[in-house]
Amino acid sequence: MELIAKRPNGTKDMIPAEAHKWHTVEHIASETAECFGFKEIRFPMFEETGLFKRSVGDTTDVVQKEMYTVTAKGDDSFTLRPEGTAGTVRAVLQNGLLNDALPLKAYYIISCFRHEKAQKGRLREFHQFGIEMFGSKSYLADADVIALAQTVLERLGIKNTELNINSIGCPQCRQKYQDALREYFSAYKDKLCDTCLSRMEKNPMRILDCKSEICSDIAKDAPIILDYLCEECNEHFENLKENLTERGIKFTVNPKIVRGLDYYTKTVFEFVSNSIGAQGTICGGGRYDGLVEQLGGQPTPALGFAMGIERLLLTMEAENCEFFAPKTCDVYIAAMGKAAEKKTVQLVNLLRDEGYHAEYDVMGRGLKAQMKYADKIGSKFTIVLGDNELEKGTAKLKNMAKGEETEITLGDGFIDRFSDMLIGDMFDGSLGDNLF
Ligand code: HAM
Repeated sequence: MELIAKRPNGTKDMIPAEAHKWHTVEHIASETAECFGFKEIRFPMFEETGLFKRSVGDTTDVVQKEMYTVTAKGDDSFTLRPEGTAGTVRAVLQNGLLNDALPLKAYYIISCFRHEKAQKGRLREFHQFGIEMFGSKSYLADADVIALAQTVLERLGIKNTELNINSIGCPQCRQKYQDALREYFSAYKDKLCDTCLSRMEKNPMRILDCKSEICSDIAKDAPIILDYLCEECNEHFENLKENLTERGIKFTVNPKIVRGLDYYTKTVFEFVSNSIGAQGTICGGGRYDGLVEQLGGQPTPALGFAMGIERLLLTMEAENCEFFAPKTCDVYIAAMGKAAEKKTVQLVNLLRDEGYHAEYDVMGRGLKAQMKYADKIGSKFTIVLGDNELEKGTAKLKNMAKGEETEITLGDGFIDRFSDMLIGDMFDGSLGDNLF
């Protein structure tokens, strides 16, 4: 068979057999965010290109090299979202959400698009679970956001991670730091890549996270921002470290973390998994106190993080974490003939209305093949409708794990009788742990 189209490089299919893994991550992440007071926000998959240029920053790799941009009719330029913070801030402002009680807390589960060199853990379409909090400038908000990320990882069963934190200061301390960087990098002008050379004047901090081997080698001995923090930024960082320690959250101060997006101020952090190799950053985030104002809102401090869902899944698989059990069929109705067919549809509808996962034959198989199929899909029970039983108004009910067969009366009260039998069988453990 020759396919006429293949999956684009750097994308993945989510096939039904893997769905329970995604559901585990999405359910645990969103439930945990709700526990911390966050509510879901949804926003478009594409935005005006200018939004990302102004927020993510036009000297970043994301904007300079990785955006999927289309020019629609009428010359408007739109870009598939490379991340979720810019869209969240735009939506928060456009809907006037900062006029409500603060802090405003929102979480999202989204697809993102970056034209990167595809490899294990680095995709061109990937998914993020992210949270954003608006309105608090306190270090307590930073600590709470980090605690939320840590709780999500713990609840997913992920153990082998490290939390790295840093402060990259505010525009005031950044000024002196940028000057020091310019001075340092000017000695390497003939070695830096062209992109970094062009960053030198406008934003030398971006050279620190260039992916080129030569540039990152040069950047190893560059001055560090922690030596340039102003008093306020320094106090904020000291308070955060103290608070994290009080909460028992282990961290390493890593002055090399500058993050690849321009909007950050003060605290930045990353959780790195040691179980999945080079693309081990499973969560990245920080404060962005200037972004709301930059995008046209009132000055409002804000912060957040995002986790890469594919990287979380890779880590969970590598660490043998537990996923929710895949949902299996509760009851399969096997039947033959026209009269049985009618009764089957009636019973299946009754069962489905009660919330049971009920299936029947739509393939025209014989009874034996239907039973084989029921076994293959792991159905917990089968109901067999034969002519004799139909006449009597009964059916055979089989617990597939135990191989035991009983008779069940159809007609009024069928659902109650079925539920009673099922509850009876639940206590012997033969039905697995995903019945309801
Ligand atoms: P980011 O560090 O660019 O931050 O991305 C967050 C996470 O998304 C990364 O730690 C990684 O797990 C995942 N990720 C990024 N790129 C890829 C890729 N190409 N393939 C697979 N996974 C990837 C942000 O996006 C910020 N918006 C986070 C944030 C929210 N900061 C404040 N609020």
